[in-house]
Amino acid sequence: MASSSPALLLMVFAAVMAAISPQMCSAVDPIATYCSKNFTGSPQKQKSINQVLSSLVPTPTTFYTTATAGRGAAAAWGQAQCRGDIPASDCALCLAAAQRELAAACSGSADGRVWYDYCFMRYDDADFLGLPDTGYTLILLNTMNASDPVAFDRAERKLMARVAKRAGDGEEAGLVRETEKFDATTTIYGLGWCTKDISSQSCGLCVAQAVAEMPNYCTFRRGCRVIYTSCMARYETYPFFFPVDGKADSAAASSSHAGEYHKVVLNA
Ligand SMILES: *[C@@H]1O[C@H](CO)[C@@H](O)[C@H](O)[C@H]1NC(C)=O
Ligand SMILES: *[C@@H]1O[C@H](CO)[C@@H](O)[C@H](O)[C@H]1NC(C)=O
Repeated sequence: MASSSPALLLMVFAAVMAAISPQMCSAVDPIATYCSKNFTGSPQKQKSINQVLSSLVPTPTTFYTTATAGRGAAAAWGQAQCRGDIPASDCALCLAAAQRELAAACSGSADGRVWYDYCFMRYDDADFLGLPDTGYTLILLNTMNASDPVAFDRAERKLMARVAKRAGDGEEAGLVRETEKFDATTTIYGLGWCTKDISSQSCGLCVAQAVAEMPNYCTFRRGCRVIYTSCMARYETYPFFFPVDGKADSAAASSSHAGEYHKVVLNA
């Protein structure tokens, strides 16, 4: 496998992820959890982190929130965001799961991040807000290839180029959904999503970088996700996002379509 960033340490998790239904599991099972920056002997820092985590509570109307606690060497910053198209009840469930996951998995780490289909949560002992981060990279590729792979790739790249472009336009509030009819029975669904602390220009660059990584891992694949800390890009041949008009049933992402995915982590 070729990596566009040779300096990165490549870890391939050969484990195939079980097919998951977005409706059933997205609020409960993290896609990935990342903990780093061990610290010991600073109960004050852990206290600030705990305080930040418990403050990252969304109200039904805010799909985004930040928090800070402590000062000096014990300070901590946090951020939580739900994807803008999901129902508020799913947002609350997802962020509650994220809080529990970070508290349990990243205790003793000064840098914790967790990704779900529907939400993202992060804390750090340095102020990261507003700084685009494309270091940690998570790639999920469908184990199945498209049946007409060359033509499919062409259609998919056209779609994702549009997603990246619109992500930088700033009109979509960091959430871009696009579709491309591939053939009589196949529509390709494309999504770009950024955290709300970065500018729309940074969002466009971030999503474009994610899309540019896709050919390195996902050529011919039926579905692919490139996830950074500040943004992600994804395409699938089934609907996995809720439409603009809010009609939930047309986004019924059934588990029978979800398939299996290989997971690749690139870590600086
Ligand atoms: C961090 O802590 C974990 C658990 O105690 C340990 O396995 C790991 O080696 C530590 N990492 C560093 C960089 O100290
Ligand atoms: C899918 O296509 C990739 C090339 O992008 C190839 O390496 C892989 O073997 C193909 N997988 C299947 C199941 O055909």
